[in-house]
Amino acid sequence: MSDTETSRRNFLALTAAVPAALALGGVAAAQTSEAAPGALAAGGRAAIVTGSSRGIGAATARRLARDGFAVTVNCLVNTDLAAQVASEIEADGGRAIWLQADVADPAAVRALFDANEQAFGGVDVVVSNAGIMNTAPFAQFTDEAFDRMIATNLKGGFNVLREAARRVRDGGRVISLSSTSTLAKRATQGPYAATKAAQEAMSGSLAKEMAGRRISVNAIAPGPTNTALLDVPPQAIEQVSTMIPYGRIGEPEDIANAIAALCASDGEWINGQLVFANGGFM
Ligand SMILES: NC(=O)c1ccc[n+]([C@@H]2O[C@H](COP(=O)([O-])OP(=O)(O)OC[C@H]3O[C@@H](n4cnc5c(N)ncnc54)[C@H](OP(=O)(O)O)[C@@H]3O)[C@@H](O)[C@H]2O)c1
Repeated sequence: MSDTETSRRNFLALTAAVPAALALGGVAAAQTSEAAPGALAAGGRAAIVTGSSRGIGAATARRLARDGFAVTVNCLVNTDLAAQVASEIEADGGRAIWLQADVADPAAVRALFDANEQAFGGVDVVVSNAGIMNTAPFAQFTDEAFDRMIATNLKGGFNVLREAARRVRDGGRVISLSSTSTLAKRATQGPYAATKAAQEAMSGSLAKEMAGRRISVNAIAPGPTNTALLDVPPQAIEQVSTMIPYGRIGEPEDIANAIAALCASDGEWINGQLVFANGGFM
């Protein structure tokens, strides 16, 4: 990692770690909402979706908002996109705040949950979605790329699940983003797949730790999905599409729909599982 990149990340981590970080986020039009800050209407539920400024996270934030959740949107650097997702939710009649917080930093994750709690009174659904994918053959994989992925995906996933374990209300849901790459074992994806397999391992244990509280904890494993993370040429998309019975790769909304199904009351009995959401790709 370059010095500039390290300084930028340190700055982001520091700013997200203190309450002043709220100044970097916002309660999008919450002042115009009828519910008082810190309280949801009776029966109201709140969700935190990490990495929801774009891609699968943004689609999930929008979908959960449509399903009646007040949503805390989160980003690392794209504050404009996070603010836009929150504003769109509000414009559609939902409730949302957004906050910049690096999931790799435990203090920033605590600040994220604090902000959600201040705005909505507590959390019922946590979607640990923020993630990055660095790929290269082992012989060329750099320490910097490996360490950054471990910090974001593994340590970040741990930070979010730990805070979820402490704060999710009874009857809630915790969902971690894994990947079909854990089974596919494609060349260049070994370290990435390892960080995603860790999500399955951690969420399986957490499901057992939540015993007696009706909190279902699952990992969801998308296949190739049309986001910036899938940084491959169009020919590669075409080729991979032929390996999916639907004849196309996934859209972020396909994954958001599957997450929403796990969060619905009918999804309660799906617990401690790894759920593949990949259109049949393998
Ligand atoms: N797309 C696929 O084909 C695919 C397949 C299987 C699994 N997945 C998994 O699905 C999840 C979402 O992927 P995606 O395709 O939607 O990715 P994406 O489009 O690249 O979006 C990544 C999101 O994560 C945020 N983020 C990155 N690092 C972060 C950090 N340290 N702290 C907080 N937020 C951070 C980004 O925020 P900024 O906008 O601020 O950068 C962005 O909102 C990932 O965990 C990924 O491994 C994706």
